[in-house]
Amino acid sequence: MIYPDECKLCENLIIDTHAHYDDEKFDGVRDELLIELHKNGVDKIITCAVDGISAEKTLSLAENYDFIYAAVGIHPENLESKTTVDEIRRLASHKKCVAIGEIGLDYYWTDDNKDLQKEVFESQVILANELDLPVIVHDREAHSDTLEILKKHKPKGVLHCFSGSREMAQEIIKLGMYIGVGGVVTFKNARKMPEVINAVPIDRLLLETDCPYLAPEPYRGKLCHSGYITLTAQKIAEILGRTRDDIFCRTRENAKKLFNL
Ligand code: NI
Repeated sequence: MIYPDECKLCENLIIDTHAHYDDEKFDGVRDELLIELHKNGVDKIITCAVDGISAEKTLSLAENYDFIYAAVGIHPENLESKTTVDEIRRLASHKKCVAIGEIGLDYYWTDDNKDLQKEVFESQVILANELDLPVIVHDREAHSDTLEILKKHKPKGVLHCFSGSREMAQEIIKLGMYIGVGGVVTFKNARKMPEVINAVPIDRLLLETDCPYLAPEPYRGKLCHSGYITLTAQKIAEILGRTRDDIFCRTRENAKKLFNL
């Protein structure tokens, strides 16, 4: 069973704007799972790379499946891969590449390489602007440095798995960017999220999973996949007093517009 019972969809409404289907956690189940998801309501998936090797795998998934699109980039936790921005430039020319990502800053795991993180992030933002592609940005405990680089270069794109304050969300909106919301919104300790979601215009919200990580409640800690996005949409619907399918339809339009799907 792909979906929790009450979440079965009859229409292909779902766009998962942030997944990692190249991740080894999907080894052995990947193809079967992707085919099953696409048969059961998942219309499109953007799968994000974290370095050069991951980008090659991500692009080959996008080549194998019409409904899968790729983002290529160097994640701040993957700097030891030594992938260069020139390699990312080459990979980004693939016709199924729709964004530069996942890129950004992560001071949670380590902050002793802040300068290198900022340099790699900034050069990829500049690349995205040059190529006229959106960015998919990771920001963990690095809100002010992330915002500074985004304000300087004003890329189009999304701040994924948003974890900042309402004020930060408003700054991101002012820059013309989108807010990505995933399974974290269903976690009991996500106290700030209702306030953030209420402050973001619905035409700036995107749905995502970050699978195989961050499965929503009640599947927290389990292997996440794009089908669980129904639980995230349900939670957002409750917060905003809308229906779940309304959330799917509205965020779907946003995703199509931003990523030119
Ligand atoms: Ni991610």
